[in-house]
Amino acid sequence: MDNVILIGFMGCGKTTVGRKLSYRLRRPILDTDKEIEREAGCTISEIFETEGEQRFRDMETECLRRMLGTVNRQIISVGGGLPLREENRELLRKLGQVVYLRAEAQTIYDRVKHDTTRPLLQGGDPLGKIRAMLKERGPVYEAAAETIIDVDDRSFEEILTAIEREVTE
Ligand code: S3P
Repeated sequence: MDNVILIGFMGCGKTTVGRKLSYRLRRPILDTDKEIEREAGCTISEIFETEGEQRFRDMETECLRRMLGTVNRQIISVGGGLPLREENRELLRKLGQVVYLRAEAQTIYDRVKHDTTRPLLQGGDPLGKIRAMLKERGPVYEAAAETIIDVDDRSFEEILTAIEREVTE
């Protein structure tokens, strides 16, 4: 299918870039976190608290399966942990062109340090957590993506132009 899918670590800018790209390419935007919250009728934090992370991960896969066959020529931004599951990576490839918004740990930390909605970054030493998770996840994101866009020290304008250059219309 012919979607543009944005992957990357929490705080790399998927939601904002997705919204702006949607406007520029005149394609609707979908976000797996929002879809899951709508379906469940509660927030991601509540799902983690009451049903656990594993259930949330299953919901991510269910969400992708639903999109396959129904969503085309859209922008899809996905939760930071979604590409870690092999089945999800296969589904993403089938859904379209996967674009990885790559950011360094410090950039991510600066963007998420006041955020309370991401259960995996709560508690002590968020920068240490981000560094450790990024070490594990970075290679997986890189392998899952067709296109890698570095976002550190770049304006949204520059990021969008770089993506537009890569996206096959
Ligand atoms: C997660 C990222 C979050 C959300 C959940 C878990 C992760 O999405 O899906 O809190 O494992 O990286 P964003 O990447 O949109 O913050």
